[in-house]
Amino acid sequence: MFCENSTRTKCSFEIAGQKLGMNIVNFDISHSSLSKGESLKDTMENLFFLGVNAVVIRHSLSGIINNVMRLVSYPIKFVNGGDGTHAHPSQALLDFYTMLEKIGSVENKKITIIGDVSHSRVAKSNISLLSKFNADIHLCAPSYLQFENFEAFNVKYHDNVKEAISEANVVMVLRVQNERHEKEGYPDSSEYKRLYEIDTNLLKQYAADDVILMHPGPANRNIEVSSELLDTQVGKTILEQAQNGVYVRMAILNTLLKGDNYAS
Ligand code: CP
Repeated sequence: MFCENSTRTKCSFEIAGQKLGMNIVNFDISHSSLSKGESLKDTMENLFFLGVNAVVIRHSLSGIINNVMRLVSYPIKFVNGGDGTHAHPSQALLDFYTMLEKIGSVENKKITIIGDVSHSRVAKSNISLLSKFNADIHLCAPSYLQFENFEAFNVKYHDNVKEAISEANVVMVLRVQNERHEKEGYPDSSEYKRLYEIDTNLLKQYAADDVILMHPGPANRNIEVSSELLDTQVGKTILEQAQNGVYVRMAILNTLLKGDNYAS
């Protein structure tokens, strides 16, 4: 149930479910009774009685998935596919899996997350997961995109990109979420690009020699990351992240539904 747009998360959960032999109901919001004012609680309870075991839900409102889970009276299972600026746990798991594949362990490795951390559910879920494994987490953003209360987390904050990526093992670039800034009067993206765009030269000059470039997607080419870098071998890790999303989401669905005899 994707109440907000998605390519990677939606398609990879669908493909993951298909690979596991599940039946997928592609819930079409615009033609559903949500558009007639039916509540999410009533929708979920009806879906459960139609035979739905689990719902992967994405929504623009932070925290709505936890709220719906509390309201629903029947044991339908929920997977958070990203809610507002709150959390994107399956993205953090696939990012973690990709890091393990590339660098073995994150312990004491310098992981730098650069970009719109203030609006990023990906950053928040990654910080939560990486801090459990003693990664050395660095955030980099201009003051107007800074993560509020970052002092409450075990992260180091930089507004200078060169300092942030210096000797970094992983540079995770985040999209500037223009759709969430519309009403907030942020500077235009050319200012952001001038100071924060990651390109091949910057990585070569400052990051570790074998630095891993990551991005949850979708990327704004030539804003937060240069188009030429995305099309190099270093940029290919971003596509591998998306591919790993299928396997990680298979594991999530299988773990959640094992015992439900979903496969015929
Ligand atoms: N990374 C991510 O959540 O991408 P989508 O919005 O395309 O699902």
